[in-house]
Amino acid sequence: MNTNSHDGDQIVAIDGPAGAGKSSVSRRVATALGFAFLDTGAMYRAATWRALRNGVALDAPEALTDSTRAMCLELTETDDGLRVVVDGEDVTDAIRTPEVTRAIYRLDQIPGVRRRLVELQREFGCRRPTVAEGRDIGTVVFPNARCKVYLDASLACRAGRRARELEARGIPVDLDALMEEIRDRDEKSMTRADSPLRRADDAALVDTTGMSLEEVVTRLVALARERL
Ligand code: DC
Repeated sequence: MNTNSHDGDQIVAIDGPAGAGKSSVSRRVATALGFAFLDTGAMYRAATWRALRNGVALDAPEALTDSTRAMCLELTETDDGLRVVVDGEDVTDAIRTPEVTRAIYRLDQIPGVRRRLVELQREFGCRRPTVAEGRDIGTVVFPNARCKVYLDASLACRAGRRARELEARGIPVDLDALMEEIRDRDEKSMTRADSPLRRADDAALVDTTGMSLEEVVTRLVALARERL
């Protein structure tokens, strides 16, 4: 087994708030480096979808932890992007609905839920060199990662990106409501007691406001080559 990647030698850790461009950037950086890609937000989404599907009470931390531990989760990279399967059911689109997005904070602040998902994330990172993105990758999941990046952008820019993503999937968007929702999610991510979103001391800050996807990818690939 290659234990180096767990030590951080072969991990690129990318954190940041909603809409900073983490997923699209990280996937491309992984391809450029020949690394695996791990979308940890998709894991919190999958756990939330499962709880909603099974009618687990969202105010019952133990039941939500049990549900997360019982989840059979498969993440597969395909030419069309990440495919997510929970307990044998393809939930690739279902985990991105506003209903799931609104409920995630009920799970993502529960220590038992986080512990389980972090365990799975470390197992994934142990197996192969990995670009992992999320909110606590550089601070909690892979604190020894040699390459850490904190991606940020203005609220207006992040909301605009999310609006275009949702519209492309045929979901109607109210931009003001979306900005409010992102502001609220930022606040919840940054102020929760367990693993709050913050820039690790040794993470490079990249503000992507006004940068194209290609520019951000080029910058991060260069950073990764320098640091790994
Ligand atoms: O990146 P995303 O929007 O798909 O993430 C969904 C939610 O999951 C986000 O609002 C916060 C939570 N999350 C987390 O708490 N820790 C992570 N490492 C990744 C996501």
